[in-house]
Amino acid sequence: MSARARPVVAIDGPAGTGKSTVARRVAAGLGFTLVDTGAIYRCAALAAVRAGLALDDTPRARQALGELAAALRISFRPGPEGQRVFLGPDEVTLELRSPAMSQAASRVSALPEVRAALLALQRGLGQDGGVVLEGRDIGTVVFPDAEVKVFLTASAEVRARRRHAELLARGLQVSLEDTLREQAERDRRDEGRAVAPLKAAADAVVIDTGPLSLDEVVARVLALAREVRR
Ligand code: DC
Repeated sequence: MSARARPVVAIDGPAGTGKSTVARRVAAGLGFTLVDTGAIYRCAALAAVRAGLALDDTPRARQALGELAAALRISFRPGPEGQRVFLGPDEVTLELRSPAMSQAASRVSALPEVRAALLALQRGLGQDGGVVLEGRDIGTVVFPDAEVKVFLTASAEVRARRRHAELLARGLQVSLEDTLREQAERDRRDEGRAVAPLKAAADAVVIDTGPLSLDEVVARVLALAREVRR
């Protein structure tokens, strides 16, 4: 048993599984705080690009990126369409979501120095429980003792179609082909990295979201969370 009064809910999985929406609705349903850890890696990437740092896997670049990640000042505030993200005083919510930032975040997140710097931040945000953390390695690394662990999956095709629709809805003109290619590249990097690769924890409940509606996925995760709260 953990010493937390309220549970930690870990929701992991690749992009395009509906993870962000599911996490947001589960957090609202439970009255828990939501922590989008992908946004934290995206902030590290954006800060690095703004600082003109190379996103290379060289000892020098890694050290500089690790130091930058350790000094990041990130804050979340509730907004009408989910959370607003701030880097220092600047709102960066929209800037974080571009395809370029997706790739940059995937690159910096492969570096052990960056992951180590952001680990403490994520643990601090979740330590008291009553929180839903959404990411890639929450159930395996950040909170291996999370009371609820869910891993969302779907086929590459289903995920790319969802992501493509999402990007178009945001007014970004990208082809399905490019979305699929970038997704494959990101999956390969996220799954293949040496530190905290994307994979389901041995004790995670794996949910294939392909054949399910969003409502059904949310209902399943809420049921799991309510089970442990009894
Ligand atoms: O969930 P997202 O697409 O916003 O995440 C952006 C990148 O950040 C993703 O390609 C991998 C990385 N990431 C990670 O390595 N670990 C996490 N817990 C969350 C995101």
